[in-house]
Amino acid sequence: MPANPDRRSIAFDRIAHRYDETRGFPPGIAPQAAALIRDAAPITPTSRIVESGIGTGRIALSLAPYARAYFGVDLARPMLDRLRANRTAERIHIAEGNAVCLPYPSNTFDAAVVAHIFHLIPDWSDALAELGRVLKPDGVLVNTWIEHDDVMKPIYDALHAELPDEKRLPVGLQWDDRSTFLPDAGWRPVGEPHTLAYTFQRIPASMIGFVEQRTSSSLWRVSDPAQPITHQETFHAAVFRPPAVS
Ligand SMILES: C[S@@+](CC[C@H](N)C(=O)[O-])C[C@H]1O[C@@H](n2cnc3c(N)ncnc32)[C@H](O)[C@@H]1O
Repeated sequence: MPANPDRRSIAFDRIAHRYDETRGFPPGIAPQAAALIRDAAPITPTSRIVESGIGTGRIALSLAPYARAYFGVDLARPMLDRLRANRTAERIHIAEGNAVCLPYPSNTFDAAVVAHIFHLIPDWSDALAELGRVLKPDGVLVNTWIEHDDVMKPIYDALHAELPDEKRLPVGLQWDDRSTFLPDAGWRPVGEPHTLAYTFQRIPASMIGFVEQRTSSSLWRVSDPAQPITHQETFHAAVFRPPAVS
């Protein structure tokens, strides 16, 4: 059975009000991440950039000042409302829409940016092809992602173990394919990946709340926490005789 039989993308309407608080970079890191993308692409003052799944502007707000213009599409209007509220002087053109059907002419952009969206889109290869369509022939796609350590993994694994297949995330690209899907689709790497490592602190109790409040999209298809999940226990009774007395 396909992981998401209704083939709908996972939009972020429900978390827009808490997205920046729960997903934002730690203080001071967003400008460093933007500078890393600028140098990697590279982005210049004449660049036109497009971002599919622009969200609240976590990347766009720091990257846009380096470019001539920045365009972004997202399915979730509440995320875009946050971006509008976060925006100051940045030249960011926002469109509510689907990454599988971008509202831009072909051969328009010098650079495309994506961050954590293809796992949310069942037809992610169509979304990728769309970016290929709107990029100029010498344009580049900057695929960005964050790898966390495994502190939360046992909790997520335990919850996901309860889920039927059709409720699991990702609905699109698998996490294990995050760095190989582009070459697998014929995209050609430009140099080695650039990385930025940083540390920050989390209060363990807030991480428990993260799960309880279904903050992560990987838990949104878990049943309502107030609703029962069918659960099976197995009571074992094993019968033994004592060791033979010699
Ligand atoms: C994990 S957030 C990432 C947002 C932003 N790129 C960032 O790095 O903070 C994923 C975003 O993709 C949007 N999204 C999901 N499926 C989409 C689709 N098919 N087309 C456009 N946006 C989509 C969600 O609404 C959400 O805002």
